[in-house]
Amino acid sequence: MEIEFIAAAAALQPKTAVAQVVFEGETPSGPFAQALAASRFTGAKGQTLDLIAPAGIDAARVVLVGAGKRDGFDLLGAEHVAANAYAALKSSGLEALRLELPTADAATAAHAALGLRLAAYRFDKYRTKEPADKKPSIVRAQIVATEPEAALAAFPPLAALADAVSFTRDLVSEPANVLYPAEFARRVKELESLGLEVEVLGEPEMAKLGMGSLLGVGQGSVRESQLVVIRWNGATDKQAAPVAFVGKGVCFDTGGISIKPAEGMEDMKWDMGGAGAVAGLMHVLAARKAKANVVGVLGLVENMPDANAQRPGDVVTSMSGQTIEVINTDAEGRLVLADAIWYTQDRFKPKFIVDLATLTGAIITALGNDYAGLFSNNDELAANLLDASAKEGEPLWRLPLPEQYNKQIDSMIADMKNTGSRAGSSITAALFIQKFVNNLPWAHLDIASTAWKKPSTVPTIPEGATGFGVRLLNRLVEEKYEA
Ligand code: BES
Ligand code: MN
Ligand code: ZN
Repeated sequence: MEIEFIAAAAALQPKTAVAQVVFEGETPSGPFAQALAASRFTGAKGQTLDLIAPAGIDAARVVLVGAGKRDGFDLLGAEHVAANAYAALKSSGLEALRLELPTADAATAAHAALGLRLAAYRFDKYRTKEPADKKPSIVRAQIVATEPEAALAAFPPLAALADAVSFTRDLVSEPANVLYPAEFARRVKELESLGLEVEVLGEPEMAKLGMGSLLGVGQGSVRESQLVVIRWNGATDKQAAPVAFVGKGVCFDTGGISIKPAEGMEDMKWDMGGAGAVAGLMHVLAARKAKANVVGVLGLVENMPDANAQRPGDVVTSMSGQTIEVINTDAEGRLVLADAIWYTQDRFKPKFIVDLATLTGAIITALGNDYAGLFSNNDELAANLLDASAKEGEPLWRLPLPEQYNKQIDSMIADMKNTGSRAGSSITAALFIQKFVNNLPWAHLDIASTAWKKPSTVPTIPEGATGFGVRLLNRLVEEKYEA
């Protein structure tokens, strides 16, 4: 999507659809009055009214887009109306869209552009036979702004964010025969062109570090496990302790020997959504040259059944020295995070760690598909995450870490086992991870509920890979950790 910011007086280009944003209860009089009278359009959020070749108007087509009440209209609202305008016109056959907002200061116009970019995302690289008339036709947009130059100046960090979210969505959308650990690592390595430092550890290096927990998960796969370390040192003090983000990157989760049922198993290609979000976060931080020291660590494995796969009942020794009885090989994400988190705190001594993982089906049962679960040992970090989450429209809901539930993961023969009962299984998964966190602020985001959406419930998030987490973590770093 090519985006331009223009002044209201700019002449209307031919073959351009006009999307006119309308506040609830402020429907325009004049040429549209008759059409409005024949419709239920009030300007409420999410409404659109399509007017084809309206009499007395130059535009080929006008779409009225509801923005809700003027009072509650904010930057997310601007993203959403732009996304709704795109949705209403993407199959119109017209190539250009002119977006007219009722209030269009620089920030509002720039966020409308972000909304267009996010809504126009599409993963179509494997479609070789799609007829041209089935593809979205809108490829250019003009956004009318009070000060077009100021809007253009406000856009670059948001364009970087849209690029990063698209990068994450691409990773998450890729099938597992294409995106296996080494290929994931290779794509992250390419981000060095943005100024990131990327190190890739293979199985021999991880074995030397004693990462028996992570390696046990990947041992049934012919694909080599990888640990990817991404660094961005943008703070003035390059020696200052970084903040750290760790992602679960299970490129495919069959369940292993505790194999999953066939139905829906294809969804497990996106079991690397946590690692995908961390990679996208590092992408945006580098692209907008964030003034912070940040480390991203990705634990990349494939969980397969095989003659060499780990068995239920096996005991593995993690890098921390703690032993784990693997009751269920399908509870593999926590085994990956155990070593990735330990490694991160041991090597980097970060100010805090936030991990992201598509960890439990139970979080979907608990929260549905609009909220991710938040667990934390630190109220300030939790509050900062909740605040960033609200501002970016990536909802989180905090859940408890009750000490007494640890009993569920006591093992008879090892320091712990990797699963408890069905009761509170998202919580016991989080408690398991907590055993690998020393005395530092830590938060765990269980994004099994939000990494993938079908159907879509937010106009800026098309069906499929969402990129959930990139926006909220980018905001957290921007507001709390940039000098
Ligand atoms: N990757 C799954 C969790 C998941 C489920 C993610 C659905 C996205 C959608 C995870 O590895 C898993 O299998 N968890 C098990 C844990 C159980 C064995 C304790 C689960 O949630 O059933
Ligand atoms: Mn699993
Ligand atoms: Zn998994």
